[in-house]
Amino acid sequence: MTLNSSSTFLLQFHIRMHNGQSYSLDFREKAPALAGRNMYLDSSANVIKRKSLDGIMACAVPGSVMGMYEAHKRFGKISWSQLLQPAINLAENGFTLSKTEARKLNRFAALFTKINDPEPAFLLSKTGWKEGDIFINNAMAQTLKLIRDHQADGFYKGITAQKIIAVMNRYGGLISANDLENYRALWRPVINGQYHQLKIISMGPPSSGGILLVQMLSLLQDYPLKQWLWNSARTVQLITEIERRVYADRSKYLGDPDYYHVPVETLLSTDYLHSRMNNYHTDRATESSRIGAGSIPVSEKEETTHFSIVDPEGNAVAVTTTLNGSYGSKVVVSGAGFLLNNEMDDFSIKPGYPNTYGLLGSEANAIEPEKRMLSSMTPTIVEKNGALWMVTGTPGGSTIITSVLQSILNVADFGMNMQQSVSALKFHHQWKPDTIFTERGALLPADSLALSRMGYHLLNRSPIGRLDGILILPSGKLEAGADPRGEDFAIGF
Ligand code: GLY
Repeated sequence: MTLNSSSTFLLQFHIRMHNGQSYSLDFREKAPALAGRNMYLDSSANVIKRKSLDGIMACAVPGSVMGMYEAHKRFGKISWSQLLQPAINLAENGFTLSKTEARKLNRFAALFTKINDPEPAFLLSKTGWKEGDIFINNAMAQTLKLIRDHQADGFYKGITAQKIIAVMNRYGGLISANDLENYRALWRPVINGQYHQLKIISMGPPSSGGILLVQMLSLLQDYPLKQWLWNSARTVQLITEIERRVYADRSKYLGDPDYYHVPVETLLSTDYLHSRMNNYHTDRATESSRIGAGSIPVSEKEETTHFSIVDPEGNAVAVTTTLNGSYGSKVVVSGAGFLLNNEMDDFSIKPGYPNTYGLLGSEANAIEPEKRMLSSMTPTIVEKNGALWMVTGTPGGSTIITSVLQSILNVADFGMNMQQSVSALKFHHQWKPDTIFTERGALLPADSLALSRMGYHLLNRSPIGRLDGILILPSGKLEAGADPRGEDFAIGF
């Protein structure tokens, strides 16, 4: 099992049983019933900065507890209370903070205090958190015990629900008792695709991840990447042109399938995909402005968590989970020991206005009461010749999809093992802004120069993604890759 340790709640769950059956569970958050399309706009229809990111109005109806409960109900082998106990122990007895965790808590202390009244004592340290401090959260232990004893009702009804509603009332939030009671996790059709002899199984809407990943791999099949070599100018140019086109599709066609007809079949059809490449030229960039409009750079870190698991029977699980930004909305449910998400920012809060990841959206992802916001999460399982081959996924907001793509290509085409693939330096393009973002050193200077001459704008940025993958070797052994960019680790039981 490989774990990424930096975030809290779960979002999308993908499982492949050893008999080859695959299932996708969507426990994406939902807009409250009182939410409306213009809730982040002022009277002049301008976006009120950070209203969808910080504080009570950023919170969507949480889905993670229901998702865990639903997954356990269908596939769990040990009892629900056994499953909860290690988390209760950790909350009650505490765990040791790493340097990064301590630094991050200190960095957000002022915001925790500003947004919450009373201030959330369990998140704050008078002397500042240090590496090695023990982080105890008794209120969280009590909440987990309620969930242990009453299953999902321990969260969505009763004391925990009352505490969430009390916070909503105190700060003027929109989530109601009905929103909590009515929340359901949904089993969704999986997204299937092909890349040479690999079968790709990934997450469908309301995530955009699976569709975009399959679109990209379907197109890449037509080109000899192996021959062109890893991160060569040719390879990067082709992948960039494909990324540009599929992210443009994302902004227009992807949203909650219960509210908007997502044309999945067309988006994945070979004819449609090939038609998208009609204006691809091997010697120059296609400008994004010829494919769509609007451009604002990515300005924030991309949080979220992914873990990949394979058990001794060969069942595989890929889970990508998130509060969205670091510590979500920073709103603490007083007396319950947890933070609420800021997932509302994943909606298109105004047509053409980019979210925190610089992603644009339109009608398909406009805010509507009880709708799920579009995600980029891409928990993915890959088969080779009918057998389980790889489990992969990552945090990273809009870069999730292109990171998962590279984790597969690195092994399938460029001869890397799982750890090398996860560690390899990456690049990312998302249509708008019209920039190839690169990790420092991802491209050789000569390749960067060749791309610049073709009209591409390249920009070094902070590390991209924190992939955690497992590769199943022909011998049946598992080879793990845990991303050195995070405090990730691989472990076998
Ligand atoms: N909150 C990030 C995502 O769902 O893509």
